[in-house]
Amino acid sequence: MKNSNYITIEEALKKGSGKVYLRGWVYRHRASNKFVFIVLRDESDIIQCVIAKSKHPELFEKAEKLTIESSIQITGDLKKDERAPTDYEISVSDLEIFQIAEPFPITEHQSPELLYDNRHLWLRSRKLTAIMKIRHTVVGAIHEFFRGRSYYEFDAPIFQPSMSEGGSTLFEVKYFADKVYLSQSWQLYAEAGIFSLGKIYNMGPTFRAERSKTSRHLAEFWMAEMEAAWMKLDEITEVAKDEIRFIINKVLEQNEKELEILERDIKILEHYSKVEYPTIKYAEALEILNKKYNMDIFWGKDLRTNEEAKIAEHFNAPVVVTHYPTEIMGFYKPPSEENPKEALCFDMLAPEGYCEIIGGSERSLLVNDMKNRLQKDGEDTSNYNWYFDLRRYGSVPHSGYGVGVERVVSWICGIDNIKDAIPFPRTMVRKAP
Ligand code: 4AD
Ligand code: MG
Repeated sequence: MKNSNYITIEEALKKGSGKVYLRGWVYRHRASNKFVFIVLRDESDIIQCVIAKSKHPELFEKAEKLTIESSIQITGDLKKDERAPTDYEISVSDLEIFQIAEPFPITEHQSPELLYDNRHLWLRSRKLTAIMKIRHTVVGAIHEFFRGRSYYEFDAPIFQPSMSEGGSTLFEVKYFADKVYLSQSWQLYAEAGIFSLGKIYNMGPTFRAERSKTSRHLAEFWMAEMEAAWMKLDEITEVAKDEIRFIINKVLEQNEKELEILERDIKILEHYSKVEYPTIKYAEALEILNKKYNMDIFWGKDLRTNEEAKIAEHFNAPVVVTHYPTEIMGFYKPPSEENPKEALCFDMLAPEGYCEIIGGSERSLLVNDMKNRLQKDGEDTSNYNWYFDLRRYGSVPHSGYGVGVERVVSWICGIDNIKDAIPFPRTMVRKAP
């Protein structure tokens, strides 16, 4: 049989009747005296297949031996059957077994730890399959969004000689006789790229030695970043809003089925695809927290997740918060001219407890101020001379931001742990498989 004779289960379900050739894995298996029922799974869907002993005694005997995740191909006749899980059933007229699987280590009720230990197998679950398909849409949407707006894709090194987002989360790597760090961000190198390419973007692996075991932090994650010459804070916040809306619309267009499998409320996503995303200042955020939620947050303190969650809850939409205290911000986030205590930066906070999904800012053009702030953090400023050169040779205002891809995927999927938003998660306590 040629490969081209086989169709996917999804194609079979669309076809609705007639002879079909399918292949895949045994998702469920049940045998009685008279029938064997197989729910077949492939990359597209599941479908029930039945083998009657009276009709095909030799196939019945073969099918009885099947186990969960055995790999098979079948020929059969497709017809509507409302009792079957996806409303169709195939009566099998031929069955070929590739492999009878050993007892599958994942059975119905398993601890999360067992599922993570067996991640290479758990990836076959309907839940993770649905999430990975949505991740695929999100990643594709990001490329489409920036390319559609004439941004160039620009790559930065993963091995970097110094930090960009604070020394405490650096991963150190032996580099011949020397040492380097894994990239915490594409940004500093992107700032060199804008002088020739203007508007650029990238999506790449990003590393942070996060010593927290939260449901929102990975040690290795993917960040989608943009950087643009001439743009100011009020422009990049609008680009960020458009990008998130664009991503949500793509998922709504392409992943209805997956959202259903994940039991994600499509109405909420439709709401996020249409509603205005407000922009407020950090100072206004404090007012909301202290007045509406009776909190007692003083100016100068960074927002924690439960505070971020309240802000987004208050607006029932993603919220852009700008002008965080300069003092607690990275060295490259510039003080505003009107009030140097406030930095020209922003975070976007997602609702439903997902909190920060984007961080960005204008980029400081003040070499001495940056040097002072780096020194305060114990950095050797000579490592940054190349970066300061960018302020010496035709300096221009510029800005950029980074989207946490897994944070966005988690939120859109409505899942409770970021580890499920990436195929093989890496955290402080998990580096295998
Ligand atoms: O806010 P961050 O640290 O910003 C930067 O790194 C800037 N250099 C980006 C830029 O301006 N080009 O990180 C950006 C986003 C966060 O908002 C968050 O969504 C995600 O990256 N992120 C993480 N996601 C998962 N696990 C972690 N440990 C993350 N740390 C940051
Ligand atoms: Mg941040």
